[in-house]
Amino acid sequence: MCGIVGYVGSRVAAPLLIEGLKRLEYRGYDSAGVAIMNGKGVETRKAAGKIAILESEVACDPVHGTLGIAHTRWATHGAPTHVNAHPHTSCDESIAVVHNGIIENATALRQALEEAGHVFRSETDTEVLAHLIEEFFSGNLEEAVMAALEKVDGTYGIAVVSSSDRDKIVAARKGSPLLVGLGDEEYYVASDVSAILAHTRQVIYLDDGDLAVLERTGYRVLDLNAATLTKTVSRIDWDLEQIERGGFAHFMLKEIFEQPKSIENTMRGRLLDEDGLAKLGGLNLTDDELLKFENIVITACGTSWHSALIAEHMLEELARIPVDVEYASEFRYRNPIVSDRTLCIVISQSGETADTLAAMREAQRRGARALGIVNVVGSTIARESDGGIYIHAGPEIGVASTKAFTSQVCALALFTLRLARLRNLSSERGREIVKAMHALPGQIQQILDNAPAIEVIAEEFKSASNFLYLGRGFNFPAALEGALKLKEISYIHAEGYPAAEMKHGPIALIDENMPVVFIAPHDSVFEKIVSNIAEVKARGGRVIALTSMDEPALVGKLDYEIRIPHTIDMFTPVLASIPLQLLAYYIAVKRGADVDQPRNLAKSVTVE
Ligand code: AGP
Repeated sequence: MCGIVGYVGSRVAAPLLIEGLKRLEYRGYDSAGVAIMNGKGVETRKAAGKIAILESEVACDPVHGTLGIAHTRWATHGAPTHVNAHPHTSCDESIAVVHNGIIENATALRQALEEAGHVFRSETDTEVLAHLIEEFFSGNLEEAVMAALEKVDGTYGIAVVSSSDRDKIVAARKGSPLLVGLGDEEYYVASDVSAILAHTRQVIYLDDGDLAVLERTGYRVLDLNAATLTKTVSRIDWDLEQIERGGFAHFMLKEIFEQPKSIENTMRGRLLDEDGLAKLGGLNLTDDELLKFENIVITACGTSWHSALIAEHMLEELARIPVDVEYASEFRYRNPIVSDRTLCIVISQSGETADTLAAMREAQRRGARALGIVNVVGSTIARESDGGIYIHAGPEIGVASTKAFTSQVCALALFTLRLARLRNLSSERGREIVKAMHALPGQIQQILDNAPAIEVIAEEFKSASNFLYLGRGFNFPAALEGALKLKEISYIHAEGYPAAEMKHGPIALIDENMPVVFIAPHDSVFEKIVSNIAEVKARGGRVIALTSMDEPALVGKLDYEIRIPHTIDMFTPVLASIPLQLLAYYIAVKRGADVDQPRNLAKSVTVE
């Protein structure tokens, strides 16, 4: 996704801005640029490609000034070129704008501005903002920005500077995350806290409709009618090394190996062993309110949607409440059956996914109560939901979600336990679940200790063109997630399927060139999946199976076996996902893919 950084203070801005952009590299981008007040006016430098290109250009021909804005662009309108890179400027280049989001009425605005004499240089929607602000500018930058934003339909996180009102940065957000960093007589604006964490831990998360004015002497937050707002100052407790790779080759590998710790953090202080209960502080729901819900809708995207499928199985089996799982991108445009007796669980690692945010707002509009299962503290979904559970997985930098997925499933298990024990689950079953949860970190570590054996399998299959992932029950979503991991980082086509569904078509795909991964723990459907494995072997398929223990029934049926410790059915997808993450990672590395920033992908999809 695009990244924004801005600085105003007494230090030279250029190195601070470029350092901030580098901290945002993981989000995915294809061009970058800076605009700095250099004492005479706004000086803009832009470059297509990696930030290093921009950095070397600025090093060769330095830009002097202590106020500036910067941007990394992930192309949505217009190719990733120098011309289309941000910042974009007004006709007289006195105003520069960086922007995350999409201006939906850009075409109409551009036409009107061109008729008024404005000359455009790029094919981006963002440049419309620069000319629109210029059109309204009469000496006060924030007033011109407010007037311009009144005309805009769509989403934005923006930072704006002007050489005619030169000692300030104006920032505003609607639908695209933006925060203000508070320093010592210096102030920052950023789309992600990692860009400025080296300089301050005190931040203000802007909400939709907020506009911030940053000057060396202080900051103000206003609404679009210029009324002053009082905002909460949050303290960031992440450390930079948590964001750095910590000696691992890739962020993704670091995060896979963090899972014993991240799962512990998800559960920390939330399990009551003696009574088999879960203690969740942020639901903002009393027991009576929880019991009033007649149905649950869970909405999410991608990996988070897979954890939603697992939660559906948990909640219906243990809490005996009807659950529907919806792709957020579908839910938001359907006419769903939602009422004030509906609990809408919204799952999002980033807390900024546009489709998921829109789906949550739609459910709330229809009277549902929204519960956010989120990783990023202070994110939009976390702040706009009616209550929630932070999964405390720590920053997840790799585009492919790993530790967030397993922490999501654990957080959803905690909620299931909380609700089920209110409704009809016995304390004995509750204690069994709590005991199984406590065992997960150690069991995950056992699997991680076996990583070299998984790398051997990756070596064998790194040249495959297709993969099938098959599972049943709780592990059908695990099959979907395993397939997604492989395809999004290795670019090998992979499909996840319910194992029993093979005979209704996909079995026609089976031959010696089709590796088939079976998730076959010793669970309630184990015998069924053994026959599915036999069906595949009988047709020449090559079988990789995740199994819980010595399974006589599987002897002679497998080409490769990956052992996972035994746990209760509902947590088998947590354990099964670890080797599948590693398998995808090792195959992708062996194929030379960009594991942390796979092509065409972004860590947080804040546009439709
Ligand atoms: C998962 O590996 C992908 N990065 C992607 O499917 C992701 O899960 C999806 O975009 C949802 O993101 P969110 O959890 O931040 O909302």
